[in-house]
Amino acid sequence: MVHFHGNAPSHEDCIYPVGKGIVVEDGLIVKIADSEELMEEYSTNGSQDNADVALHDLGGSAIVPGLIDAHTHLLWGGDRSPEVRLRREGMSYAEIAANGGGIQATVRATQESDSATLYKSGYVRLREALTTGTTHLEAKSGYGLDTKSELRLLRVMASYSEDPHRPTIDPSWMGAHDVPKGSTMEAYVEELLSEQLPAIVDQGIARSADVFCEQGWFDVESSERILQQARQNGLALRMHIDEFQDGGGGELAADLQVVTADHAYWTPKATRCRMRDRGVMTGFLPGTPYAMGDPWPNMADIEGDGVPYTLATDFNPNCQTLSLPFMMSLMVQRCGVHPLETLRAVTANAAITTPHPSGLSHGEIKEGSVANLNILQSRQWESVCLRPTGSPIAATVLNGNFLPN
Ligand code: NIG
Ligand code: FE
Repeated sequence: MVHFHGNAPSHEDCIYPVGKGIVVEDGLIVKIADSEELMEEYSTNGSQDNADVALHDLGGSAIVPGLIDAHTHLLWGGDRSPEVRLRREGMSYAEIAANGGGIQATVRATQESDSATLYKSGYVRLREALTTGTTHLEAKSGYGLDTKSELRLLRVMASYSEDPHRPTIDPSWMGAHDVPKGSTMEAYVEELLSEQLPAIVDQGIARSADVFCEQGWFDVESSERILQQARQNGLALRMHIDEFQDGGGGELAADLQVVTADHAYWTPKATRCRMRDRGVMTGFLPGTPYAMGDPWPNMADIEGDGVPYTLATDFNPNCQTLSLPFMMSLMVQRCGVHPLETLRAVTANAAITTPHPSGLSHGEIKEGSVANLNILQSRQWESVCLRPTGSPIAATVLNGNFLPN
């Protein structure tokens, strides 16, 4: 049993009472009450020093929920760093891709990586994510692009669940990330439907399916076929839409009522509102425009329309950060978003699209939720979005385990 006392912010109403304590037992939050009262309740003969209770006096540090990264491409091999130079020299993302770079280059490097190397790089990345407060993350395959390689990526992801000191993973199959070299769109979609999807479903190795619905990658018709069939096979649906231009992906997301449609930079206002009305979450990935030097989404307009959204890192070879506090800083310090909204986006909202494997609630500090918490270095919860470099987190509680940073 672990007993914390610090400042637990209620992120629904922005009241953060000083002197609250949180009791954690068997990986769950079992009680939130006045610190003094808890100290009395859990002390034996006037002492808190007993074998069954571990007391952590946080000295009034702020506590926020464990952060949830609702969109990552966690596993891949290779190094596409020269692409940043090529872009500065005038090539676009699409031109680099057409010339053998981009996703295809990572697919080659990933296929050439042995499983131990892939496992190790993912392990290090998970540790890095934990350092900046991520306790759970969505992770996509998509750098395999054939049945064997896609399955391998998902298997490596599944193997991390044996380590209780790493963030938990919500796995997505993204065979529809690109058309592999030497194939055609038509032939590859057939392969996805007749071979990859059945194998993924058979092994029960992914909870969701994701499609890169974008002009130059998967068109709306192919995306719809893949998503419909994934749904019929019991997978939840996610989409990448409108990263480079409005390609109609937002309308498809609304039609199919997918769980989340991400990037969505060029999605028209009316489509955003239709997605909102149809219960589709929008996933903003501020690391991508940051990495690409592209304009920010108009967050004032989006918030004015009451569009619900998550913020995620989109960690990938082109955007190599796993820091959600950095995403929060970009939104607050560059896009005029209220700090509480960024916190909601990476906790309560992210929990909707990216549930915990236990099926229990997370992303909130509430009795009965998974004990995933971040203890900040500051007494002020707003500090979580003021550390674009380094980490604002002093310690993370992961499934009830107290892990100092
Ligand atoms: O979400 N847009 C598609 N996929 C990734 C990037 C892929 C890559 O460049 O390797 C993304 O940004
Ligand atoms: Fe992505």
